[in-house]
Amino acid sequence: MIKIGIVGLGRIGKVHLHNIQHHIVEAQVVAACSRSEQSLDYAKQFGIEKLFTSYEKMLSEGGIDAVVVASPTALHFEHLKLAIAAQKHIFCEKPIDLSIENILEIKRHLSASQIKFMLGFNRRFDPNILKIKKELKDGRLGRTQSVKLISRDPGPPPMEFIKTSGGLFLDMAIHDFDLARHLMGSEVTQVFTTAGIFGQLPLETVGDVDTAVSVLKFEDNSFATIENSRNSSYGYDQRVEVFGDKGLVSSQNKSDDTVSFADQKGFLHPKPMKFFIERYKESYLNILNSFVQCLVNDTVPELSFEDGLRSMAISLAAKKSSEENRVVLLSEIV
Ligand SMILES: NC(=O)c1ccc[n+]([C@@H]2O[C@H](COP(=O)([O-])OP(=O)(O)OC[C@H]3O[C@@H](n4cnc5c(N)ncnc54)[C@H](O)[C@@H]3O)[C@@H](O)[C@H]2O)c1
Repeated sequence: MIKIGIVGLGRIGKVHLHNIQHHIVEAQVVAACSRSEQSLDYAKQFGIEKLFTSYEKMLSEGGIDAVVVASPTALHFEHLKLAIAAQKHIFCEKPIDLSIENILEIKRHLSASQIKFMLGFNRRFDPNILKIKKELKDGRLGRTQSVKLISRDPGPPPMEFIKTSGGLFLDMAIHDFDLARHLMGSEVTQVFTTAGIFGQLPLETVGDVDTAVSVLKFEDNSFATIENSRNSSYGYDQRVEVFGDKGLVSSQNKSDDTVSFADQKGFLHPKPMKFFIERYKESYLNILNSFVQCLVNDTVPELSFEDGLRSMAISLAAKKSSEENRVVLLSEIV
């Protein structure tokens, strides 16, 4: 039985807690840490007895083998350094950190240890994406030429969250940059991004945007186009299309049901699922299960620290490209 401690019990921490306690037989959350009493009360409902407001205490007194870092991004650097010093295996929510220097520092600490590290790019574990990736691996598309991702949120997070999260590129689009790399199986060499503000939030005051189009070029000369928005009026829009010389593979939005209504005006289909917690439900369980299995079987995690570093480099390149209105080479970032 792998004993897990979890730090951060907000939107995503609760998802991981629920999945481990109810669906992963080889692991158990035995300790939780949060600054909020309400979150710790929530953790009690899952049978967790070791509740901490101090993260250091959870690491030293929680009796844990591994930690799930689901705290706000601004705390990841500190929380990762302490977990490594305490020799705990780590599942960390994305992004690792917002600065390449900090990410490289964590990388140095990790490589001097025996710790297994996995990053929360859950979309790779979505059933649709797993199937698309298999088709690509099996070579059914021939030579892959381009990937097109549409990733639009139903609404922006609060300004308070945006201020410290990294904003559209470093917090949200990073999922899409990782997915593009993963599906194409090649490294990005350059990025051109154009972006703007179309919603109501005063994003210019925090140097952020709510809409962007990015074109990524890969080492093997293939490319990606990625459209991001925080203001999708019709719901959470998540579509994928990969094009190759032997065909096309794509996945569409998922809805809660497939019931349609028709009248003289036409056919009405249900909206896409509400947001990420509903749409990517299976992926959150699959990714945590993958982490636990690599601890149980002593195997290498499917998603590496390097994946987190590379995706953050693309995010920073996209932000720089939109700010400077030019193509940015990845070699300028890392
Ligand atoms: N993979 C995904 O799809 C996904 C989705 C959402 C968020 N995330 C990532 O997860 C992380 C958390 O995001 P969220 O949306 O759940 O945030 P949130 O604000 O909802 O929750 C953060 C939690 O951390 C707690 N916290 C704050 N300071 C703390 C401290 N010093 N010690 C311990 N706990 C502390 C808060 O009380 C809260 O419970 C972020 O890095 C975010 O990027 C990933």
